[in-house]
Amino acid sequence: MQSIGKGILTQTGWEIIKNSYEAKQAINDGSSFMTGNGYLGYRGTFAHDSSEAYVGCFVTDTWDNADGKWEELSNVPNALFTTFHVEGHDLTLTQPHQDFERSLDLSQGLTGYQATFPVSAGTVTLKEEKFASLAQHHVLGMRHVITADHPTVLVIESGIDTVLWDLNQQHLRGFDVKDTARGFEVQAQTSQSNIQVNVLERRYPLEGGQVVVKEGKHLMRWEVTLKENEPLILDKLMVVTSSNDHEHPSSALSQMEASVESYDALKQENKLAWDAYWARFDIIIEGNLSDQVATRFNTYHAIIATPMHKPLPIGARGLSCQAYQGAAFWDQEIYNTPMYLFSYPKQARMLLEYRYQTLDGARKKARKHGYEGAFYAWISGKTGEEICPDFFFKDVLSDRPIRNHFNLWQIHISPDIAYSIVRYYEVTQDEDFMRLYGLEMMFEIARFIASRVVFKPRLNRYELTQVQGPDEYHENVDNNAFTNYQSHAALKETLRYLEHFNPEDINKVRQQINLGDHEISLWHDITNKLYLPKPNQEGLIEQFDGFFNLESVVPAHEVTKRLKHPEEYYGWPNGITVFTQCNKQADMVQLFSLHPSLFNRDTMRMNYAYYEPRTLHFSSLSPSTHALVAARLGMVEEAYRHFKKALMIDLLNTNEAVSGGTFIGGMHTANNGATWAMITQGFLGLKRSHNHLYALNPVLPKEWKSVTFFTDIQGVRHKIYVSHEEISILNLSQSPMETTILLNEETITFRSQYQSQKQSRA
Ligand code: BGC
Repeated sequence: MQSIGKGILTQTGWEIIKNSYEAKQAINDGSSFMTGNGYLGYRGTFAHDSSEAYVGCFVTDTWDNADGKWEELSNVPNALFTTFHVEGHDLTLTQPHQDFERSLDLSQGLTGYQATFPVSAGTVTLKEEKFASLAQHHVLGMRHVITADHPTVLVIESGIDTVLWDLNQQHLRGFDVKDTARGFEVQAQTSQSNIQVNVLERRYPLEGGQVVVKEGKHLMRWEVTLKENEPLILDKLMVVTSSNDHEHPSSALSQMEASVESYDALKQENKLAWDAYWARFDIIIEGNLSDQVATRFNTYHAIIATPMHKPLPIGARGLSCQAYQGAAFWDQEIYNTPMYLFSYPKQARMLLEYRYQTLDGARKKARKHGYEGAFYAWISGKTGEEICPDFFFKDVLSDRPIRNHFNLWQIHISPDIAYSIVRYYEVTQDEDFMRLYGLEMMFEIARFIASRVVFKPRLNRYELTQVQGPDEYHENVDNNAFTNYQSHAALKETLRYLEHFNPEDINKVRQQINLGDHEISLWHDITNKLYLPKPNQEGLIEQFDGFFNLESVVPAHEVTKRLKHPEEYYGWPNGITVFTQCNKQADMVQLFSLHPSLFNRDTMRMNYAYYEPRTLHFSSLSPSTHALVAARLGMVEEAYRHFKKALMIDLLNTNEAVSGGTFIGGMHTANNGATWAMITQGFLGLKRSHNHLYALNPVLPKEWKSVTFFTDIQGVRHKIYVSHEEISILNLSQSPMETTILLNEETITFRSQYQSQKQSRA
């Protein structure tokens, strides 16, 4: 066993293990040890836990706005609720126990624990295992194995718990519970959106029993005789659906339940589904078990947070809790999509299709604020209309609410989506996607930018004023370099499509959205005259107008000494960072991560050196961006330092679960997805190069012996192995075809395998 830190262990790099139980870690452990499948997320709690332990099963497409402010996904009734009692002792972890071990098997998403409980006449050992099936998204399975070292009577209570942990107001109401003889079924409605949610419990092999209803729990009770050292195996299924998934949820549940042959069959099917996923997304790191397991841990969480059944957003906290509203931020395109783009482009397309489905929401938002085209929501749920509340935090000193303008001024979300469309098309050459969705989104985003810029006649240039860049601590700024460059790139690419894409397709889309010639000439003008901040005499690019006049505090963490209250908000309107150059997160460095070809290496290095010490890294998005950029710039040690930080955010729970009275706990899904990108696009330099070849430019940290990963090149899966001495690329298709890649700037063509020996790599 190797320790990763804070009581987390691993044995093979495929599992995380903890052998101490701490009730106060329920928020963090419940997220880390969760199981899920992109349709639902079930927190890593124990079957005997209730809402106080933050039990949660969050289901996609069940948004509800119960309090008129926070639109969130619903937590559904817990059909895995089960308790055991022996000789008057509750077998729950708050009671004395020994040999506790909990684990999450990342290879197949199994979460569980084992513990031995002393009872009056001996001991009873309980083993619990559960998983959300990756093969059948609506189904969860759970198995208990109970063994007593003496003959005794076991009391079992198993059923559905309808008392739910909700972050902001209760979402489900009108619970209608019925006993179906082999389990309970509950039906309920969301408060405001009126979605019907159905949950079914199915138990094996126990039937009959005595119904017990207490504290919102509908249970069946049995007394079973345990023989000495003879394990009793109890299996259970939980099946979930909503009226957004099935027209007749109740009958759909019965059908889905009937299709499960047994717990073992469900488990086997789940394993095969996971094998297929890992064959795409696994990254094998030789030489550092801690990095290996943490990489898999993050990749696992990125996968289970991603809806793969229909176009829906990836929530910023995935399906680990209700924080961040189960909704998409720019995180989705910039942090989560790359992993799919290079390993499972179909999924990247699905995420972009979600953005197409929400295009009307974005159009509505633009019109509401007096703009044209598509102003995408900062926080985007089902319809794409803005669900980011105006007020997030409060000023703890005055107790007054703070108006943040994330929803109004963080306009880079629209060009960020354009950026993702461009990358998707560049990698996949999927013309069908562009015809159906991509071009229209690009045009509408260009329209928005064109209506958002202001022309300054005296300067003969366009500007983007009153914005907020990625650094959320500085609002209401003009000409944020990141936003201007991103907008410029979106316009430029749109014009390129207009010129080079099949004219028939272009005209069709133009007609559809009534795109006039005058608009296109305006886009040309803006592209030519949009102000793009350039390096000054010292080689530095100003983050936004006037940034260099703000107080420079280095290192940025010094600024925290100015807090008058530990929970004060740092940003707008008068937090401690507002009048300083202290950044919340990567902003200029973010620009370099997306547009490395626009700047020379010296400029990027110089600006990195300037901005990094002025960055607080108070967003979980920040370390991974720094790791990626530093690695590309060949600063391997610096990159590895940030990589490590990013890697451990959730595994070692380094970020706050509550800030300014707002719950922000749960998994940091963008960072989970960025792990894949840090390694492949950062350390290994994977990209689609300017001449449309896949390119690799590896620099390995000295802590690793080698890295192996899988990527699709021209639609064919390849296995890429990089060590300090050697690179090998294997075409995994049955009938290999010619592959050409750019390796360290050199063009290499091979059929089935390429292998090179290198003397020494940095
Ligand atoms: C970050 C944003 C991010 C959001 C959701 C915020 O704290 O500043 O950049 O999009 O969290 O992850």
